[in-house]
Amino acid sequence: MNTQRSAIVERESGEVEAGAFLASMIEYSDDAIIGKTLDGIVLSWNKAAQEIFGYSAEEMIGRSLLVLIPPGRLAEERRILAAVRRGERVYHYETVRLRKDGVAIDVSVSVSPIRDHAGNIVAASKIVRDITDRKQAREKQELLDRTTLLLQQKEVLLEEMQHRVLNSLQIISSILLLKAQAATSKEARSQLEDAHHCVLSVASVQRHLHDAGHDGLVAVPQYLTELCQSLSDGMIGDSRRIKLVARVDGGDVDSVTATSLGLVVTELVINALKYAFPDKARAGEVLVSYDVTPSGWRLVIADNGRGYPTRAGSPTKGRGLGTRLIESLARQLDAQVETQTGPNGTSVSLAHAHPIVRSPELSATV
Ligand SMILES: Nc1ncnc2c1ncn2[C@@H]1O[C@H](COP(=O)(O)OP(=O)(O)OP(=O)(O)O)[C@@H](O)[C@H]1O
Ligand SMILES: [Mg+2]
Repeated sequence: MNTQRSAIVERESGEVEAGAFLASMIEYSDDAIIGKTLDGIVLSWNKAAQEIFGYSAEEMIGRSLLVLIPPGRLAEERRILAAVRRGERVYHYETVRLRKDGVAIDVSVSVSPIRDHAGNIVAASKIVRDITDRKQAREKQELLDRTTLLLQQKEVLLEEMQHRVLNSLQIISSILLLKAQAATSKEARSQLEDAHHCVLSVASVQRHLHDAGHDGLVAVPQYLTELCQSLSDGMIGDSRRIKLVARVDGGDVDSVTATSLGLVVTELVINALKYAFPDKARAGEVLVSYDVTPSGWRLVIADNGRGYPTRAGSPTKGRGLGTRLIESLARQLDAQVETQTGPNGTSVSLAHAHPIVRSPELSATV
C-alpha cells in the first residue's frame, strides 16, 4: 500500500513538473501561442502574443480573437474554426492580422484542436509567427530577380542591335568594294575604296563595342591597332615596301570619339599610302601613334615619304575632301590640327587639350 501511494505521488509530481515545463516553454516561445474556445474566445495568451500584437494577456483573455482579424478576412477565421471543429489541423497558413495599434502584419498561422480525456474537441491552440521580415525579404528577392531578368533581356536586345548594325556596315563595305572593283575609272575606284575603308573603320568600332561588353566604351589601343592592321592588309600590296606601324597607348573612349579617331586615322593613313611613296621601289614607313598626355591626348600620323607636292618651292595646302573631313573631325574631337610636311615626310597631329568628355549623345556631324 505504501509503495502504491509513493508511486502515485511520484507520478503526480512528475506530471506537475512536466506541466510547469510545458507552461514555461509556451510562455517563453518566440511564437505567439494562443488557446481559444471553438468560438474564438481567448483562453490563454503568452508573452510572444503580447509582443507581436501589443495586447496584454489581461486585455485578451475572455475576449474574441476577431479583434485581430482585418475586416476583409473574417470569413477566413470562420473557415479555420470550422476545420478545427472537424478535428483538422491548419499548418503554416500565411495571412494578415492586425496589431493593437491598427498596423497590419504578415503572419503564418497553425491551428490544432485540443481534446479532453474523452477525445472530444473542446478548444484550439493557435501558433502565430510574425513573418513580416521574411515576407519583405522574399518580396525584395523577387524584385531583384525580376530586375535581373529585365537587365538580361536588355543586354540580349542590345547585343542583337549591335550585331545587326555591325552586319549592315559590313554589307555596305562589301558593296563599296564590289563597286570599286567594277569601276572603270581610276578616280572612281579610288574613291570607292576609300569609302570602303571608312565604313570598315566605323564597323570596327561596333565590333569593339560588342566585344568590350555593354559599358559603351572602346579600348583605343586595341581598336586603332586593329584598324591599322586592316588598312595595311587592304592597301599595301606585296610589291610595295611600306610598313605601317601602330604605337597606341591610352585607355577607353566612348564610341563617338572612337569613330572620329578611327576616321582620322583611316583618311590620313590612306593619304600617306596613296601620295607619300610614288616610287614603288622605295621603302617607306607610316607611323600611327596615340598617347594620352597629362592634359588630354595626341594622335599623330607620320610618314617618311616625299611630302606634299610643292608649288613655287612651298608645299601646296591640301584642300581635298579628306582635308575638310579631318578639319571637321578635329572640331568634333575638340583637337588642334598641325601639319608638317617636307621632302623627308609628312606628319599630321591632332592634340586634344582636355580630358576626353565621354558623351555618347554627341552626334556625328562630319
Ligand atoms: N602624306 C602625304 N604625302 C604626300 N602628299 C600628301 C599626303 N597627304 C596628302 N597629300 C597631298 O595633299 C592632297 C590633298 O589631300 P586630301 O586628303 O585633302 O585630298 P585627297 O586625298 O586628294 O582627296 P580625298 O581625300 O577626298 O580622297 C593630296 O591630293 C596629296 O597631293
Ligand atoms: Mg585624302
